[in-house]
Amino acid sequence: MSTQPIDQAAIDAAARLLEQGELVALPTETVYGLGADAENPQAVAKIYAAKGRPQDHPVIVHIAPEGKLEHWATDIPPQAHQLAAAFWPGPLTMILKRAPGIPDAVSGGQDTVGVRCPSHPVAIALLRAFKKGQGGVAAPSANKFGAVSPTTAQHVRDEFGADGTVALILEGGQSEVGIESTIVDMSRLATHGPVLLRPGHIGAEAIAAVIDMLPVAPDAAAPRASGTLESHYAPHTPVAMQDTETLRQTLQTFQQQNRQTALIHYSDFAHAGPAIRLPAQPEGFAHALYASLRAMDNAGADVILVESPPRTDAWLGVNDRLRRAAHGSTGIVHGLLNHTAPS
Ligand code: TXA
Ligand code: MG
Repeated sequence: MSTQPIDQAAIDAAARLLEQGELVALPTETVYGLGADAENPQAVAKIYAAKGRPQDHPVIVHIAPEGKLEHWATDIPPQAHQLAAAFWPGPLTMILKRAPGIPDAVSGGQDTVGVRCPSHPVAIALLRAFKKGQGGVAAPSANKFGAVSPTTAQHVRDEFGADGTVALILEGGQSEVGIESTIVDMSRLATHGPVLLRPGHIGAEAIAAVIDMLPVAPDAAAPRASGTLESHYAPHTPVAMQDTETLRQTLQTFQQQNRQTALIHYSDFAHAGPAIRLPAQPEGFAHALYASLRAMDNAGADVILVESPPRTDAWLGVNDRLRRAAHGSTGIVHGLLNHTAPS
């Protein structure tokens, strides 16, 4: 996380811009967000326009530690308060019944609202400065729809810096967690239990330890979340996930075919092309994952090969993001493997 001192002047400027209905990019401990006043439908509409995001995809409302959950949600089960007490500020988003008066725009028309209190000191300072700490900042990840989420301010500048749609980008170093918040649907607790809509740093077991109910995977009837689309978080270069031994063979095949291969791995590999070795441990891997995908996407390779992490619970969030990053590329990589040298 950022070790820089907090720039209060920049935070106050950002808070005023949000109050005027402008977009501000803010660091959080998970990824950078593209923020707008959650109670200003015109401002929220700017987020959808900037991201190129369909209108029926709801956004998460970020609140200050002193913010009132009751302002945003209604019929809040006691378990939701327990989770807030245990994990906020932090990388957990709860889906709750939407309070009357909360605009449709943040909910994508659904009767629920996603709320979280982030732990990044710059995000907290902004939320305290904005509307005297009583507002909410709607903020999806600050990337174009479907693309890799940003984990540095530079990533946001690369994506939105030139087009003038974002009034201010707050600096906050590299996001500590590196993948988006865990999302648990608490809005239908009595009938469905807690539903894990998106795995993340806070695992199902940690949630169960607090509320004594284990979050389950969503069934087909669950509300759609954009982060749960099959293809998401994807670089432009095709991505393939392969087990360690398969990957060794693929690297050889591609080398014989003179293909440019970028590699993201955690075991020992001898690879002549662009490569990033990540920690063989889920927190460290997640922390650097998106920056690594971006770097390898910019390496000019024909394909990005990723060594599949273990399929254990601790790796659930990382495996989920990697699977989505690779989803659209399966056919392309198969095609490459079955062809001979490029012309
Ligand atoms: O870590 C994060 O959550 C980051 C940072 C900026 O806080 N934000 C983030 O936002 O990942 P976004 O918009 O990229 O993803 C939010 C996810 C989407 O999959 C959205 O569909 C889901 O949350 N979501 C939000 N409100 C919802 C609701 N009422 N019901 C179901 N899903 C909801
Ligand atoms: Mg996103």
